[in-house]
Amino acid sequence: MKTRIKALAGAATIFLSALAPQASTAQNPSPDAGGGARERLLMDFGWRFHPGNDWGSGLNLTKAASSSGPAGAKFDDTDWRKVNLPHDWAVELPFDQNADTAHGYKPVGPGYPANSVAWYRRSFDLPAADAGRRLWLEFDGVYRNCDVFVNGWFVGSHKSGYDGFRYDITDVANYGSNNVVSVKVDASEFEGWFYEGAGIYRHVWLEKTAPLAIAPDGVFVHARFRNNVPRGAAEIEVEASLLNTLTNAARATVNCEILSPDGKSAAKFRQAGQVGGGAMQAVNLSARVSAPVLWSPESPKLYKLVTTVESSGKIVDRTETEFGIRTLAFDATNGFLLNGKRYPIQGTCNHQDMAGVGSALPDALQYFRIAKLKEMGCNAYRTSHNAPTPELLDACDHLGMLVLDENRLVGSDEENIRNLRGQVMRDRNHPSVFAWSLGNEEWGSQGTASGAASIRTMQKLVHSLDPTRLCTAAINGSYGSSGFVTVLDVKGFNYNLGSIDPYHRDHPDSFVIGSETASTVTTRGIYANDLQKGYVAAYDDITKTKSGTLVNPVTWGETAEEWWSFYDARPWLCGGFAWTGFDYRGEPTPYEWPCINSHFGIMDMCGFPKDNFYYYQSWWTDKPVLHLLPHWNWAGSEGREIDVRAFSNCGEVELFLNGQSLGKQTMKKNSGLKWMVKYAPGVLSAKGYKEGKVVAETKVETTGDPAAIQLAPDRPAIHADGEDVSVIAAQVNDAQNRMVPVATNNITFEISGPGKIIGVGNGDPSSHEPDVYLAQLPFNAITVTGWKWEQTADAHRADLPGLGTNFDDSTWAKDNVDSESGPLEPGQNGVFRGRVTVTGQDLAAESVKLAFGRIDDDGWVYVNGQKVGECHDWQATPSFEVKPYLHEGENVVAGGVAKNGGPGGLNLGVKLRVQGKTVEPVWKRSAFNGLAEVIVQSTGQPGAITVTARSQGLTDGVVNIPAESAPHRPAVAAN
Ligand code: GAL
Repeated sequence: MKTRIKALAGAATIFLSALAPQASTAQNPSPDAGGGARERLLMDFGWRFHPGNDWGSGLNLTKAASSSGPAGAKFDDTDWRKVNLPHDWAVELPFDQNADTAHGYKPVGPGYPANSVAWYRRSFDLPAADAGRRLWLEFDGVYRNCDVFVNGWFVGSHKSGYDGFRYDITDVANYGSNNVVSVKVDASEFEGWFYEGAGIYRHVWLEKTAPLAIAPDGVFVHARFRNNVPRGAAEIEVEASLLNTLTNAARATVNCEILSPDGKSAAKFRQAGQVGGGAMQAVNLSARVSAPVLWSPESPKLYKLVTTVESSGKIVDRTETEFGIRTLAFDATNGFLLNGKRYPIQGTCNHQDMAGVGSALPDALQYFRIAKLKEMGCNAYRTSHNAPTPELLDACDHLGMLVLDENRLVGSDEENIRNLRGQVMRDRNHPSVFAWSLGNEEWGSQGTASGAASIRTMQKLVHSLDPTRLCTAAINGSYGSSGFVTVLDVKGFNYNLGSIDPYHRDHPDSFVIGSETASTVTTRGIYANDLQKGYVAAYDDITKTKSGTLVNPVTWGETAEEWWSFYDARPWLCGGFAWTGFDYRGEPTPYEWPCINSHFGIMDMCGFPKDNFYYYQSWWTDKPVLHLLPHWNWAGSEGREIDVRAFSNCGEVELFLNGQSLGKQTMKKNSGLKWMVKYAPGVLSAKGYKEGKVVAETKVETTGDPAAIQLAPDRPAIHADGEDVSVIAAQVNDAQNRMVPVATNNITFEISGPGKIIGVGNGDPSSHEPDVYLAQLPFNAITVTGWKWEQTADAHRADLPGLGTNFDDSTWAKDNVDSESGPLEPGQNGVFRGRVTVTGQDLAAESVKLAFGRIDDDGWVYVNGQKVGECHDWQATPSFEVKPYLHEGENVVAGGVAKNGGPGGLNLGVKLRVQGKTVEPVWKRSAFNGLAEVIVQSTGQPGAITVTARSQGLTDGVVNIPAESAPHRPAVAAN
């Protein structure tokens, strides 16, 4: 058979991105206007959030900068809920049996318009010195379809929920004063067939640069070796794209320094160039690094490229880019090669969803999840079925995990191509990314000519932006002579083990990867299928229901042993990705309601391992592994035969019940062992032997009743940076500190110190308990009705007739204050009167505000004859605290309004906004098979965080987690 090694590193191409400056070129002639240095500021803190949309689109297509409602700059959002990003509002909603099964029964998306749209707003100050700088507002991802406004200006829309996108807000920013960002998010449509969340669920950034600077995503760095063999020196290629938003051309020098993993300077090099006014220019540089330290999952050593831009004798920009030095190759005989050696992909596919937080994962949870996968022996992660958040890739770079970086949708239309371009340009420096996946199971096109043509266009684009990596797509059929397989660099097979050998026989030169395999369904700690509760036994056998329906694995899938034995036996295959590393909401296959999350995970929603975790750990790691299942709490089943399994990589395993040997068995490679054991309470133990020597021991024991809760954080301390997270396992133990594997006790969590609980979970795929408990902000909006009006000579006088309570307005004209416009002609004045009834309960609230949609133009406002305020800005949404002026029963709201130009009056409704006192929530979760999880986040201050878990009849679990002083990421101050 002919062997073909395809070198992945090619010659660097000149990069001319379509990204052009959106805002005008700067008049300021200095390339370092605004002080020069780049600032990248996190904008996650201090947002206001309002679910639902009472205000329409906000877009005002008649006049610029005059967006209405929350899209406008002057809208009063002070009674909106405060949130920090990342934020997913779907996870906060209750489950609803009528909602979409595949999305996990959350009432959001098609059929739930009221829950599917929400607004976010935040204000921030910009120093006057920023004038002349270029300002970019950058979103890592918003689910989905958002309109973004800055200071009432519409700045852009983005549809797909999975891409990063940015807007140049230089022109519309207010320098030396306040600015407001408003984002309307519309999650009415689905993109996937799995839980997708809703909201600004990834980070938001404000980036400030000099007018001459490195363009966004403008640094591309990669290493090459001669013949793609990682020996000798590495050639480092750098492409730095300069964006000059000045009117005139500028000369600039790009200086590069490479810092090696130990922080020492490894190379310095520079290149001068000229960039036209209002233009972008790529500058190509290269350098050699001798005896480089290679990046791999086993040794994730990172280099850093420091790039500075010098112009007119000044440094105008500086960026840091982490990268890795390694080689990638695909080989038709030896599969995938990392750093010149065969490197089977031991991968998992994953969605971006976790217990407690939904799709809004703080960065620490990315690290938590990647670390868990590594513990299992996993070396690769497929970002099914969408572009990841950049912080996932950071975690993979730093912890050592290869990534198959997947695009959401196949298509060569303008929008898809723009999104794909953005994804590749953003992610191509990450050493973890080893290939691009252009799509998944595109049934409608994977076998067609138009499908092939579209994939060709996409692949060509990716190659032009990234000559260092190949493309694949996850295909589940159409492996013949048409469609995707005829075009793709690497053929991705989803399931369909039976089609792989025939394909290889007919295409011996093709590279083949298992883009998706397994779809095993198991429930943690469950050892018999339970159709009512929606649980699947954790044995990972082929099981059927009574009616013959296949339960595990699904009809299209394979058990862990089936797929891994198959791939491991064929060195020409590149390995594959099991569906999935973690459970996720939605796709509760093989069940439906009451089951709400998937069973596919090798770990559950919380990251607690299921038994299969140890199958993979046995065959994917070198350390001795020995794991027994099931648990040994079978009271009432004495004498019954229990199916006992061992997952191990030991050559032989001997099983004991209460010290009596039940025999030694020899382990077959990539398999597991089985005994049928008559149940007797006590200790079931095992010894693992390698070459006759005991190298591993384990046991499961019959426990007593639940007696205490034990709290175990994933790390001994966290950073007091306002972002870091502690993931705490709450384990129900018996009196001898052994986990009770069937415990279901209800647990409540309390917290003190500089931390807050952000989510809870337990991994039960049928639990309908909330993951998030919100502070209650009792709120009531009462409409002021019965509006009448009459013309008057002078609107501002306090003695106008009708401002007080006792007045007969029956002869006045009726007025509809809900409309967009009012009855006043230009130059006219009027008096308006309305009525509102309040209860004693309303008056006991913290605050009662009288809120106007608009007072057009000048207004003097009275409640029961007493003046409560004035407003002289027709674009404002004025509100006045009126609790002291109200009484139980009917109240009169009145006001004089003066109109200058155009028709006017009181518009867009008048309401009393009754706001009760905030009630802090009680966080709780029951244990599922002995375990629950609570996720705690730093509030920013250093100190000891104490978490206490309580359950009736059990000793409290208490844990102290020090939040240690740590720098906060540079952030836009919340005001
Ligand atoms: C695959 C699909 C995944 C998931 C899985 C469940 O066909 O690519 O997204 O639905 O099936 O088994």
